[in-house]
Amino acid sequence: MTETILVAGGAGYVGSHMVQELINEHYDVVVIDNLSTGHRQAINAQARFYQGDTRDRQFLESVFAQEEITAVIHMDAFSLVPESVQQPLKYFDNNLIGLISLLEAMNKYAIKYLIFSSTAATFGNPVQIPIQDQDPQQPINPYGESKLMMEKIVHWVEQANGLQCVALRYFNAAGALADGSIGEDHRPETHLIPIILRTAAGQQDYVQICGTDYHTPDGTNIRDYVHVMDLAQAHILALKYLQAGNPSCSFNLGSNTGFSVKEILQTAREVTHCAIPAQEAPRRGGDPDILIADNSQAKKILGWHPQYDDIHTIIQTAWTWKQNHPQGYAHK
Ligand code: UFG
Repeated sequence: MTETILVAGGAGYVGSHMVQELINEHYDVVVIDNLSTGHRQAINAQARFYQGDTRDRQFLESVFAQEEITAVIHMDAFSLVPESVQQPLKYFDNNLIGLISLLEAMNKYAIKYLIFSSTAATFGNPVQIPIQDQDPQQPINPYGESKLMMEKIVHWVEQANGLQCVALRYFNAAGALADGSIGEDHRPETHLIPIILRTAAGQQDYVQICGTDYHTPDGTNIRDYVHVMDLAQAHILALKYLQAGNPSCSFNLGSNTGFSVKEILQTAREVTHCAIPAQEAPRRGGDPDILIADNSQAKKILGWHPQYDDIHTIIQTAWTWKQNHPQGYAHK
C-alpha cells in the first residue's frame, strides 16, 4: 500500500525538494504551507496541497481528518540566522507554536512517526570540529535556540505519547534539483550561494563578504554545504529507520568538509566563468566561525550516501536553476 506522507513547509526551499524526492520514491504526498516564504509553483503537481498555517489547529485537524497520513516530515520554520537576531519573537512564535500544534494533531490522529528539520545552528560555537551528533548544543542566535527547544519538546513528547522521531540537523543546505526545475528563491535572499549567483548573473553589483576577522585561515566564516537533494534522501532513510523499529535519534547532515566564504566565491567564479566582484563588509550578528559536520553516524546508521558531495557540483546545480529561472518562481 502506498504510504501518505505529510510535508509541512513543502513549498519552501528544502520542502519542495523533499516533495520531489518522495514522489520519485513513489510515496503519496500531502503538503501544507502558508506560502509566507514558500512558492506554490515549487510544489510538484502530484502532491495534494492545502494552504494554511501550521499554528492553526483547526486547519491542521481538517487536513488530518481528510487524509490517511502515516508520517509527518516537518520542515515548516523560519530559518534565517540574521533575521532571528533582529526578531527573536517571530522565530519562537512560528517555530515553537507550529511544532506544538502539529504534535497535538499527530497525537489526536495517532500518527507515530515524525522526521523534523533541526540545524547546525543548535551547536553555537562548537566544542570541536567536525561536530559530533552528541556534542553540547549552545546556540548563539535565536534561530538555533528555537530549533534546540524544538528538539527538547519532541524528546518529552516521545516519553509521554510514544511518538518516534528523528531530528536531522542540516548544515548549509545548497544546490537545486539537477534539471534546474526547482531551486532556492528566498525574498529577500540572504544566503551566500544564491547571492553570489545573482551577482554572477549581473543582477547585483557585488557580493558582501560579511566579516574577515573570524578565527579561520583566511578570516572568513567556514561552512559545510550539503546538497538539498541529499538532505531529502536522508529524510526517507530516517523514516525507514523508525519504521524498522529503531529508537528516536538525532543526526548531523553535512559533508564533513568546510569552505570559507572566499573559497565559495572562488569556486563560483570557476563554475560560472564570471568575475563576481566582492567587497569586504562588517560581520553579521550571530555567526559562528566554523561549522562542519561529522556525518559518520548518518552514513553508518541511516545508510546515507550523499550523491552531490562535491562543492563544484552543488554550485553548478544552483547555477543551472539560476540560469533557467533568473527571476526565481514568479517570472519563469
Ligand atoms: N555571507 C556573506 N555574505 C552574504 C551572505 C552570507 O559573507 O551576502 C556569509 C555569512 O556570514 C556566513 C556564510 O556566508 O558565514 C553563509 O551564510 P548563509 O546566510 O548562506 O547561511 P548561514 O550559515 O547563516 O545559515 C544557514 C541556514 C541556517 C542554518 C545554517 C547552518 O540559513 O538555517 O546554515 O549552518 F542554521
